[in-house]
Amino acid sequence: MATFRALVLHEEGGKVVPRVETVDEARLPPGEVTVAVEYSTLNYKDGMILEGQGRLVRAYPHVPGVDFAGTVLHSDSPEFRPGDPVILTGWRVGELHWGGYAERARVPASFLVRRPDGLTAKQAMAIGTAGFTAMLAVIALEKHGLAPAAGDVLVTGAAGGVGSIAVSLLAALGYRVAASTGRPELREYLEGLGATALIDRAALAAKPVRPLDRERWAGAVDAVGGMTLATVLTQLNYRASVAACGLAGGSDLPATVIPFLLRGVNLLGIDSVMCPRAERIEAWDRLARDLPLAKLEAMTQTVPLAEVPALAPRILKGEVRGRIVVDLAA
Ligand SMILES: NC(=O)c1ccc[n+]([C@@H]2O[C@H](COP(=O)([O-])OP(=O)(O)OC[C@H]3O[C@@H](n4cnc5c(N)ncnc54)[C@H](OP(=O)(O)O)[C@@H]3O)[C@@H](O)[C@H]2O)c1
Repeated sequence: MATFRALVLHEEGGKVVPRVETVDEARLPPGEVTVAVEYSTLNYKDGMILEGQGRLVRAYPHVPGVDFAGTVLHSDSPEFRPGDPVILTGWRVGELHWGGYAERARVPASFLVRRPDGLTAKQAMAIGTAGFTAMLAVIALEKHGLAPAAGDVLVTGAAGGVGSIAVSLLAALGYRVAASTGRPELREYLEGLGATALIDRAALAAKPVRPLDRERWAGAVDAVGGMTLATVLTQLNYRASVAACGLAGGSDLPATVIPFLLRGVNLLGIDSVMCPRAERIEAWDRLARDLPLAKLEAMTQTVPLAEVPALAPRILKGEVRGRIVVDLAA
């Protein structure tokens, strides 16, 4: 195909304006591997990029989409051949580089991982950066000693993308999972993913009254940040860890060092974007093995490219439930 469809962002009068357009292949950036993109997805960061927030995109016109899954069409790298199924998440694709909201993408071979057997391209994007990040968080907690016998694990922002996959993964691995949410109406949804208790988001968002609260959590996956993360630190069990993944509730951390000094707790940073390739491959293999695909299906809705811009403000407001897959063929 000499041309392909893409969602292109333009900067017009100080505003970011999205349009679905037909783009010539000659406009693809240089790179070793050309991919026929089958599916992409909507993450929180995609919402920011589509809404022109955070100065993540510096040059327009721009094709957003921080993730994609598809099939190799052409490769100058010995690592990939035409027909290979591949996944891309992160590496600042969709912000610094042209992204996955297009039928074609071109990237360095080192940005791609082979899609594991057992996951379709659509399932890989139902996981996407959000699910990949949840898996990195669980692996980090395991490396710091978390095991199902240790006690309850807390997931904050539980009904969002990172949260929904973290709840499903942890439940499938045998953990008792407490889901913190601001949407109590989603109780049935969260219990369906495997949550055994619901915590009101507001209870964690209030300023901690003491530097140490009652020990409640053997581990935590936090997608919210801010006061919520500060509260979680005061409630971790002795030597337990929280994996800090997100900032849906704020990027500050109004905490004291007391939980580190008196309980030896750990604050684990999770970055999915520049994560080294060997760890990516490990995480995708774990996702293919450990994430129940029926639950993934239950948390996912699929939309065509043209519907993506309208969903951007909704994901930033925390109104999206679970995961959104973008079907490039629709
Ligand atoms: N570190 C990384 O590499 C990485 C990768 C992916 C994502 N992230 C970050 O992780 C976060 C979640 O991403 P996502 O794609 O899962 O987004 P998402 O689907 O919008 O989920 C975020 C969830 O956070 C909760 N929330 C929203 N606003 C809140 C507020 N003001 N106070 C408290 N809770 C709030 C909501 O859950 P409830 O309705 O259940 O309360 C919402 O569904 C984002 O901050 C994103 O930037 C980081």
